[in-house]
Amino acid sequence: MTTGQTARPGIEYLDMQAYVGITKHNGGFAATDELLTLCRIETAREVLNAGCGIGVGSAYVARNYPCHVVGVDISEKMLAWSRQRARMVGVSDKVDLRVGDVLALPFKSDRFDVVFCESVLAFVEDKGRAIAECVRVTKPGGYVGLNETYFVDKATPELTARVQTSLGTHVPSAATWQALWEKSVLCDRVVKLYRIDARTEIRDRIRWVGWRWAVRAWGRLLRLYITEPTLRQSLREMFDAPVDLLQQMGYGIFVGRKPEQA
Ligand SMILES: C[S@@+](CC[C@H](N)C(=O)[O-])C[C@H]1O[C@@H](n2cnc3c(N)ncnc32)[C@H](O)[C@@H]1O
Repeated sequence: MTTGQTARPGIEYLDMQAYVGITKHNGGFAATDELLTLCRIETAREVLNAGCGIGVGSAYVARNYPCHVVGVDISEKMLAWSRQRARMVGVSDKVDLRVGDVLALPFKSDRFDVVFCESVLAFVEDKGRAIAECVRVTKPGGYVGLNETYFVDKATPELTARVQTSLGTHVPSAATWQALWEKSVLCDRVVKLYRIDARTEIRDRIRWVGWRWAVRAWGRLLRLYITEPTLRQSLREMFDAPVDLLQQMGYGIFVGRKPEQA
């Protein structure tokens, strides 16, 4: 997979998610609702979900709002889940899905009313460029919204290095995300920071995909755990962390409007 994350022998974290059919999503539907509301989704006609993963967010928007949704992801396997999800929810006619890199989005400039991106840029090294791409494809006056993971300030360098190696992510602190956001051309910027709570996270993750989907995904994860020694190793490295990993993490909702004269 060409996501720019640290190469690791055997299966990588995002490949594992693509195989299992479940993705990391902070804050469940409540976070997505907050993000979409701040992006004025109710007035949008054309919406982009960049890094759509298994397509829960795209299908959710298509079902609940009178707009057309485009979902892009770098992984064809993820897009296959997204297609299945759109069929399951009955919105295939309102959702287009295609391969695309958030660092070079395959769209002309000024096309979308809303561009949203959830738990994607943590996996991308050049976050500034990814934000600029999201802004480029947004119409003047339109909104860009992110929901992204951050490390709390007291996270130890050992822990951040462990996550970087095990998951291949580039998770920054909240201050770094804020600085990136402030550097963008967006105006009317809103930043909301939340901490992650392990129990709510699990419950929200199940609600995000639905019970049946979750049970099937756990079955696939178990099969992978048994057959993939590198995955076992990665999970052990993660959960042997000296502190509760989730207590060291939070997520931020970042929203901004593209100026009329960008
Ligand atoms: C943790 S998942 C989140 C998926 C979805 N947004 C959600 O909230 O459920 C991250 C997704 O970002 C995609 N991704 C990673 N790097 C990307 C890139 N450079 N361009 C587009 N998608 C990317 C991965 O393939 C994966 O589907």
